[in-house]
Amino acid sequence: MGWSYFHNVRGFVMKYRLLLACAVALPSIPSGTGAIAQTTNNAPKAAAEKRTGPANRPWLDRSLTADARTELILKEMSLAEKLKLTFGYFPTKADWQRTDTKNWVFPKGGLPDSAGFVPGNERLGIPGQWLTDAGVGVASQRTATPRLRTSLPSGIATAASWDPALAQAGGAMIGNEAFLSGFNVLLAGGMNLMREPRNGRNFEYGGEDPLLAGIITGHAIRGIQSQHVISTMKHFAFNGQETNRFTMDHRIGEQAARQSDLLAFEIAHEVGRPGSVMCAYNRVNGFYACENDWLLNRVLKQSFGFKGYVMTDWGAGHSTTQAANAGLDQESGWAFDRSPYFADALREAVNNGYVSTARATDMARRILHPMFAVGAFDTRVQGDRSTTIDYAAHALVTRTAAEQGMVLLKNRPGLLPLAATARTILMIGSHADQGVLSGGGSSQVYPHGGPVNGITVPDEYPNAFPGPKLYHPSAPLKALQARTSATVRYLDGKDVKAAVAAARTADVVILFGEQWTAESIDAPDLSLPDRQDALIDAVAQANRNTVVVLETGGPVLMPWLSKVGAVLEAWYPGTSGGEAIARVLTGEVNPSGRLPVTFPASVAQLPRPVIEGDVKLDADAHPMGNYDIEGAAVGYKWFEKTGAKPLFPFGYGLSYTTFTMRGLRVAKNGGAVTATFTVRNSGLRDGKATAQLYVAGKGWEAPRRLGGFQKVDLKAGAEQTVTVPIDIRTLSTFDTASQKWVMASKDFSISLSDSAATSFEKVDFSM
Ligand code: BGC
Repeated sequence: MGWSYFHNVRGFVMKYRLLLACAVALPSIPSGTGAIAQTTNNAPKAAAEKRTGPANRPWLDRSLTADARTELILKEMSLAEKLKLTFGYFPTKADWQRTDTKNWVFPKGGLPDSAGFVPGNERLGIPGQWLTDAGVGVASQRTATPRLRTSLPSGIATAASWDPALAQAGGAMIGNEAFLSGFNVLLAGGMNLMREPRNGRNFEYGGEDPLLAGIITGHAIRGIQSQHVISTMKHFAFNGQETNRFTMDHRIGEQAARQSDLLAFEIAHEVGRPGSVMCAYNRVNGFYACENDWLLNRVLKQSFGFKGYVMTDWGAGHSTTQAANAGLDQESGWAFDRSPYFADALREAVNNGYVSTARATDMARRILHPMFAVGAFDTRVQGDRSTTIDYAAHALVTRTAAEQGMVLLKNRPGLLPLAATARTILMIGSHADQGVLSGGGSSQVYPHGGPVNGITVPDEYPNAFPGPKLYHPSAPLKALQARTSATVRYLDGKDVKAAVAAARTADVVILFGEQWTAESIDAPDLSLPDRQDALIDAVAQANRNTVVVLETGGPVLMPWLSKVGAVLEAWYPGTSGGEAIARVLTGEVNPSGRLPVTFPASVAQLPRPVIEGDVKLDADAHPMGNYDIEGAAVGYKWFEKTGAKPLFPFGYGLSYTTFTMRGLRVAKNGGAVTATFTVRNSGLRDGKATAQLYVAGKGWEAPRRLGGFQKVDLKAGAEQTVTVPIDIRTLSTFDTASQKWVMASKDFSISLSDSAATSFEKVDFSM
């Protein structure tokens, strides 16, 4: 991947300068800003408790509801105290922000090299808010000694598991690491539908379908918040590309919006009840997402019933009065915005009546409510206790997640799992002798278990944001060597001739293809960069037993597909990724991931063959993007509607066993619909099937929609009858006049499938 398209000038400049800043002695962290006063002997302690305990601070009474506690504390708060909660700081050394207008200073009490800090209130016992990125674990800003933590596989990999319980377990694991690292807000819950397969952040998100993304992300949020940590669903909304992300104005009709990305957020909100939502950088229908009354007030707060707070993305704030009245509750990461809109300016706007005092109270209410609801008042973070993290247990959580999310895309019978008879195995490329790739940008978790600076493989890319390009030190080579009696050797693949010569003499070749994607830059195309396609082609011609393992952010093209024997999509597999890959290749684990996105056969098949927005535009430009081209027909829906044949369809994935699915029946109970059917493992190995139910109705954006799904774990030869609820919204359209989901017609059909391109049985039914 070249750097010529590194175009997000603003993000680049901001974060690049940060990277130049070396680690310095920063103010020590007070033990919980706003925590109940610390005392040294019993008498003052008792006195302090008398002053600060539930009798004088009734909102600390745990037996009350979060609603009641919020109202009690609000009664005690001055306007200034309420507004103080609405302004957050960037607690990473950022001298470059000390300009005439900004005058940034390190916020006392913030955790160094983290994403955000909002001071607490000692008088009232309100804890501070310590914010960290992101969806796969506790990230760190770049420093010489970053936090080294456990990383889940990428968000798209977790979505590929089609397993809500697994997403929740992963969320709980990273929530625990956040809590023990001193954070009570995790900027996790990334979920922008994949409208653009070249989007540099697809790896952070949950795929292209609103039901799957909403359910998986909702469960991840639920897991995080089980650890007394607020989860921040993001980026609300339509942040579908990184090109011109700070200025892009994505246009989309209301109905299409509600039936696509906003439906994903609606479902995730119902499932996970996130305490916070991060509004996006881009504009939507003319207004910046962070000052968009329709998005924030009408959709999120009124229609979804969201009770928490909306925080800006870092640098996504653009105004005081417009933003506050449009539903923004907290400005994040000062000094990323051009002005401190929610500091003195907000107070003045309230004093002058441009923003009502009721709205100011509402902002504080929305921030405090989730803090009570997740237990941030009752079970307070106590600074950095990361030495108590159970990394061994967490390595197993992430290994399982990686294994369940890997998708076997091709397998010539007999090639995988690797035969015990193989004597020589050649592994090639992507530093498989050292680790597994991760995605770049603010979500970057610096690897635990490697060097103190987190750099497992000396970087081939510039160190500047969104780099460095990092590998988790879980080497597929070592993991495979530990599991086979074959001789396994490694070549980096840079010398194609040498790789081809070695491939000729190996029984099996395992070739790793990688695509590093990162925040702030979209991929230039869907090809594996750095001439990897040519390497794979040449090696596959030399040895037909070539297995390609892909570490990519999202879909890629595979011009060599017909020549290779097998393809395993491993995504960015996280902390235990090498082991997970080896366990799948050897058959210790039967692959069960299914694609949460369509793999196109070419960019010409996409709604936008060329990414919209000129990369050279500056921060004051208004580039437009037309999401009405596909509207709600995102991903597989677009492909089915246009009749385009993808490389691999949504929902697709192979197993080392085989399944049959039959006996589909539909039942209606009141307004609810369920589908019942039987899944049988008809092969010789235990494995997991993912049954998918696609519904069809009239007048929709596309012929079919995913209406429900269920992953079923079956021993060889076993069968199980399962009943799956169909989300009624997938049978409906959003009626913009009444603002309700309505069934445009009563007649539907439902297909039992194992991908968006198959149908084993189809049943018609009427509501
Ligand atoms: C990203 C957010 C992230 C924030 C804080 C922004 O650049 O878009 O996803 O949470 O930075 O690091």
